[in-house]
Amino acid sequence: MDPYVEEEASRIEREVLREIRPRPEDREKVGRILNWVLRELGRFIETREPGARVRVEGSYAKDTWLRTSPEVDVFLILPRDRGREFLRETLFPQLLQWFSGHNPTTRYSEHPYLVIRREGVEVEIVPALEQSEPGRPLTAVDRTPLHTEYVRSRARDPSLRDEIRLSKQFARNLGLYGAEIAVEGFSGYLLELLTIHYGGFRSLLRNAASWRPPVILDPANHYNGDHRAIVRRFGDKPMIVVDPVDPQRNVAAALSLDRMAEFSISAHLYLTKPSIYYFFLPPLDPLELKRLASTMEPYSQNTLLIRIKLAKPQAPDNLWGQVKRLARNVENHLGRTGYTVIRCRPRAGEEGDQALIACLLEAPTLPQLHTLQGPPFEKKENVVRFIEKHMHTPGAGPWVRGGRLHTFVQRRRINCVDEVESSLSQLLPHALREDAEVMVGLLPWLADELGDEERTWIMEFLWGKPRWLLAYLFTRRGVYAIHRERPPVTARD
Ligand code: CTP
Ligand code: CA
Repeated sequence: MDPYVEEEASRIEREVLREIRPRPEDREKVGRILNWVLRELGRFIETREPGARVRVEGSYAKDTWLRTSPEVDVFLILPRDRGREFLRETLFPQLLQWFSGHNPTTRYSEHPYLVIRREGVEVEIVPALEQSEPGRPLTAVDRTPLHTEYVRSRARDPSLRDEIRLSKQFARNLGLYGAEIAVEGFSGYLLELLTIHYGGFRSLLRNAASWRPPVILDPANHYNGDHRAIVRRFGDKPMIVVDPVDPQRNVAAALSLDRMAEFSISAHLYLTKPSIYYFFLPPLDPLELKRLASTMEPYSQNTLLIRIKLAKPQAPDNLWGQVKRLARNVENHLGRTGYTVIRCRPRAGEEGDQALIACLLEAPTLPQLHTLQGPPFEKKENVVRFIEKHMHTPGAGPWVRGGRLHTFVQRRRINCVDEVESSLSQLLPHALREDAEVMVGLLPWLADELGDEERTWIMEFLWGKPRWLLAYLFTRRGVYAIHRERPPVTARD
């Protein structure tokens, strides 16, 4: 890296750290809110679950949290004999009830958990069971305290924890952060391991810029450098990072090839010309986005939408799985029937009761006629069958070209909306067949049905610029006009 560019990157990173490193008053605030939650949970345990205990984990316990997204993970741990069903059916509703005065929301991982927001701080209260028996495979809950311990012991130096913060802010801002199926990106723990392994943010980027899949890391050397054994254990994955606390787990298991590629491209672009935009993108002005969308009007005629409303909400990761499958089915089906699909994207609503799929096509209709290639002349049996089938259609031959029979056929359906509608029952995954209301149409026809968030999402879809690309565009100053001039800081209060 050019020394001038290196210096520029250091200057930017110092500036970013001033925004994301918790200040004493941030620590005081989060500490105060955490203490309040711990007191509440103490009383809850006393009255409802005397066998339970509480543990503080996650980025707060590791001191790798960001001032711009203050968040504490609190585990409420019950004796193992309580069982999973008890957690879900009894304890969780009790907790919701207990915190009902504080607007708790529900999120899901393996079980439902509770999120409370106070003064901009998010507290996650995660019900869990006591450790599994020795000798049994570790569960997610067993591993978490081991992760906390590992990161604390490896990142004792506060400046390394700052480097981790830079990695997280970079990935978060570029839309690459989070192991959930909606993102398929980098989890906080994965970025912690990568930053520690490569020895800092910039050197993580330098390595990422030249990643070639499969990237295989085994920070604790569980496999003694035997990469073949690692691949045998974890399969064909773009990235394998063996968990230092559990040789049986790939920390990067949820990372998709595409998110990995985007991280690698972003790293290269940043190292070539660093800018603050890789850490903070100014919010897009909705009006400006609307104007941009109107310049993309012709594309909106080529955009097929499938909108789904569910009677019963599903856990978001579940719904995401279904909607991704549907998007893949639709894309394949349209391809098989003669359409050229430019891109299809799924979206699941946060409440888990609605979903949307948008597909941009080269054209929304197909020509009425299409040529059909028949058998080669040598295969006389097939030749006769082909002739018998098509000879009565006026204009359709069959004729011989290049030694093969040819004919044309009329398409039964020439519109992508009809095509998808008529095959919907095969395309929909099972869980979306019942209690779901499905609408199919071209964007201009469905636009009025959409909510504000969906509309924004579609404009972004049509615009077709992922966040890492926006960072590059802003850096090049080519599209300066699309955001209101304002300080590039998005810190919450
Ligand atoms: N965890 C994990 N694998 C995941 C998600 C979470 O092992 N895909 C564990 C990790 O031990 C992690 C803990 O759960 O430290 C808390 O998860 P999360 O809140 O997602 O990550 P943090 O490390 O707290 O990072 P941040 O909150 O800054 O995103
Ligand atoms: Ca966390």
